[in-house]
Amino acid sequence: MFRITILYGAIREGRLSIRAAKAIKSALEASGKAEITFIDIKDYNLPVMEARLKDMENPPDGLLDISQKLATADGIVFVTPEYNNSYSGAMKNAVDYFTKEWSKKPIGIVCGSDGKQGGLNASNLLQLLVLAIGAFPMPYKLLVPELQLALDEEGQPKNEALSKSIQHFVKEYLWFVDAISTQVQKGK
Ligand SMILES: Cc1cc2nc3c(=O)[nH]c(=O)nc-3n(C[C@H](O)[C@H](O)[C@H](O)COP(=O)(O)O)c2cc1C
Repeated sequence: MFRITILYGAIREGRLSIRAAKAIKSALEASGKAEITFIDIKDYNLPVMEARLKDMENPPDGLLDISQKLATADGIVFVTPEYNNSYSGAMKNAVDYFTKEWSKKPIGIVCGSDGKQGGLNASNLLQLLVLAIGAFPMPYKLLVPELQLALDEEGQPKNEALSKSIQHFVKEYLWFVDAISTQVQKGK
């Protein structure tokens, strides 16, 4: 069983990308190979980052909680909407707080938008962010165009093509987490 932490990065009232986060959570759980911890950044009311967690004398409990959930994961999935051709500011702000938590983690990327491109720009930039934090971005990404049509409120896909993409993502991701986390364990 792999310990997978999903970091979901939209805090907007009425956010649709929560559907993509629910979809990938359900699909990973249904694989029977993943135990999911879900971090909804909205639950934490994180201020704009002024100091990294490692440099704080009295860190808030919320940051310690996120740190533990990231550090203990075999793999992480980032889920974000596309805002202004990039990932959400809330996602970047959360990522910036942490350092060693990311080290050598396999990270899958799920992006969504209400338009036709499914967060393609956000996903490309997010792969670069993952490299910057010393983690490994999975090459295959899950993009969800027209979130409002593609998934119901519980994250159930409303078309066959998306169901297939989700299944493909899960298969690739579990392989990727296995490959990298096995090497990480060997190196300990
Ligand atoms: C500030 C802002 C900027 C946005 N920029 C883009 C964009 O560049 N490309 C795009 O496809 N959708 C863009 N959108 C639309 C989002 O894709 C849309 O809101 C979608 O539902 C996902 O975001 P949500 O989870 O906040 O709902 C933008 C939305 C907001 C609020």
